[in-house]
Amino acid sequence: MSKIHAAITAVNGYVPDYVLTNEELETLVETSDEWITSRTGIKERRILKGEGLGTSDLAVPAVNGLLKKRGIDAKEIDLIIFCTTTPDFTFPATANVLADKVGATNAWGYDLQAACSGFLFGLTTGAQFIESGKHKKVLVVGGDKMSSIINYEDRTTCIIFGDGCGCALLEPNEEGFGLQDSILRTDGSGGKFLGMKAGGSVRPASHESIDAKEHYAHQEGQTVFKFAVTNMADVAAEIMERNSLSADDVAWLVPHQANKRIIDATASRMGVDSEKVMVNIERYGNTTNGTIPLCLWEWESQLKKGDNIILAAFGGGFTWGSVYLKWAYNS
Ligand code: UT7
Repeated sequence: MSKIHAAITAVNGYVPDYVLTNEELETLVETSDEWITSRTGIKERRILKGEGLGTSDLAVPAVNGLLKKRGIDAKEIDLIIFCTTTPDFTFPATANVLADKVGATNAWGYDLQAACSGFLFGLTTGAQFIESGKHKKVLVVGGDKMSSIINYEDRTTCIIFGDGCGCALLEPNEEGFGLQDSILRTDGSGGKFLGMKAGGSVRPASHESIDAKEHYAHQEGQTVFKFAVTNMADVAAEIMERNSLSADDVAWLVPHQANKRIIDATASRMGVDSEKVMVNIERYGNTTNGTIPLCLWEWESQLKKGDNIILAAFGGGFTWGSVYLKWAYNS
């Protein structure tokens, strides 16, 4: 019997309606459209408005749309891996909440925390259950309500992040399409440069932690930028090299959307032309776990069976990685 690969058989995405423009940010903090555009490439981002709504509420329309597209019932899903840095709650897992909301009553699930690299960690993890023959349908969700942990008085972070969610279904493929390889890395010593200081077991919520604004994302931008440029580009080049892929062999680069300058540096290191690079940062900003599946969703109609696709990400923690997949269908 031929080897079973885990192939993406459907993708979908969802972004909330509210558009937070650079012009509106100019009214909140000392910044300018010119600065944001030239330093990051971002023009606007989406924000989930409304009381009592969390990351799972971004995932519900994305997942329901995916099920409809694929023509399957939620009860057919075996496993949900919810990659998020802004879970609905510390517990229960957002995967549980989502399973209940979409009626995935036969699935088990868990949340996966790897910041902006989460979707790559999730795809790689989910693929193991397909390749081993244990499961037939694994749903990998990547989404964040970043607005829930952003301080809109901090110009160094509030201009970057937005809310959004994407998802992909993994199923067995015996024709050789699907995930081919992945390289995933972590370096915990980078946590101090991009993370959230309070709210975990080390520093639970208190009046002091709230007064010190420690429940917001904290980023030392320049340091993160330097690590991101080097590591994301290196890992993308490494996965090409070890799979003997030239730039011509690569149909698409799907980079994490953190900063247009990081995306350009990665593409340049790989030798891949800009028209093969998925970029929607100008409309959504950095949706953390959502960026890569949102790109796949937006470009889905242009993807062809057999396309060699490289995914690459860098995120808080630090985490980074690259996944090489052969696209499995024409839509
Ligand atoms: O997705 C997870 C991984 N995250 C990333 O990959 C993000 C990586 N970092 C970045 O994308 C960039 O570092 C930022 C976009 C966060 C910042 O851009 P930068 O070019 O590194 O700016 P900087 O921090 O070096 O600041 C340059 C100047 C400073 O002013 P002075 O000291 O030169 O007078 C900042 O105070 O720009 C100032 N500045 C701003 N000015 C206008 C910082 N933020 C803003 C702002 N508007 N929003």
